[in-house]
Amino acid sequence: MTSAIPAIEVRGVHMTFEDRRILAGVDLVVRPGERMVILGSSGGGKSTLLRVMLGAYRPNAGEVLVFGRNITTMEEEKLNELRRRWGVVFQGGALYNSMTVGENVALPLRENTMLDDSIIDIMVRMKLDLVGLNDVEDLKPAQLSGGMAKRVSLARAIALDPEILFFDEPTTGLDPVTGGAIMRLMNDLASKTGATSVIVTQDMRCAFDCADRIALLHGGRVHAVGRPEEIRASTDPLVRQFINGEPDGPIPFRLSLDNCAGELRAPLRTKSGRRPRPTASAPQAPGRDGN
Ligand SMILES: Nc1ncnc2c1ncn2[C@@H]1O[C@H](COP(=O)(O)OP(=O)(O)O)[C@@H](O)[C@H]1O
Ligand SMILES: [Mg+2]
Repeated sequence: MTSAIPAIEVRGVHMTFEDRRILAGVDLVVRPGERMVILGSSGGGKSTLLRVMLGAYRPNAGEVLVFGRNITTMEEEKLNELRRRWGVVFQGGALYNSMTVGENVALPLRENTMLDDSIIDIMVRMKLDLVGLNDVEDLKPAQLSGGMAKRVSLARAIALDPEILFFDEPTTGLDPVTGGAIMRLMNDLASKTGATSVIVTQDMRCAFDCADRIALLHGGRVHAVGRPEEIRASTDPLVRQFINGEPDGPIPFRLSLDNCAGELRAPLRTKSGRRPRPTASAPQAPGRDGN
């Protein structure tokens, strides 16, 4: 790599909701231009880590540097400037249902530039074209298939020509063919634009097809990181269990609701009998449709 400054550096990040430790010292370096896949079990803290990287959650300890700048202590105004340099594709798409496709894609351009409406229209068409869609500007998100909605989210994420693209579970919930098409699109965009990609997923195929490097998140930490072929050849029992989907091994298979408590948004009950609130100091997740 030529550039010395990582695109993203996560240093010793801890994140606790009430008394539940979700991230317990995550260290990760994402190099400029690379496609980094963060792989892990459901409920393992992948989306939480993504939100910490986006500055949506402030971690309880540790820090995140983006383009060499510490976003953990950054004022909101400065963070908003930095946010223009990245695009996010949320798990559910996070499209505004009341707006048309064209208006959704135009939104970042309207909010962040002084461009004329006619120029914005052209740019919206260009971005939609880049994700393989045309003649859909006037449709509403509810009229789209899952794969099309994902493409529209992607078009919106690239509206401002971001240097980093974040994806949360880009293939989850899609059929294998549609998922494959989205993966190809993600890879195409990464190579065409040179953008750095951070892809959070539990989909093994997505991990091996999209990654330059894979980081396996387990127990609140990055347990292993390496190129796909290194991960595939790993003799580490936990890595082997994860990539082979074996029920027996260091990762416990949860049998009862009690054992699943760690995956619930909130513990079933507290000593006071009330549902606890999260201790995160930052606002709720940035997703607009609850993901
Ligand atoms: N805002 C929040 N408040 C309370 N608990 C949360 C919040 N966000 C995530 N969690 C909890 O953190 C754990 C990890 O969630 P998440 O990061 O969404 O996992 P993943 O994306 O790997 O499936 C889950 O137990 C979840 O319930
Ligand atoms: Mg998630």
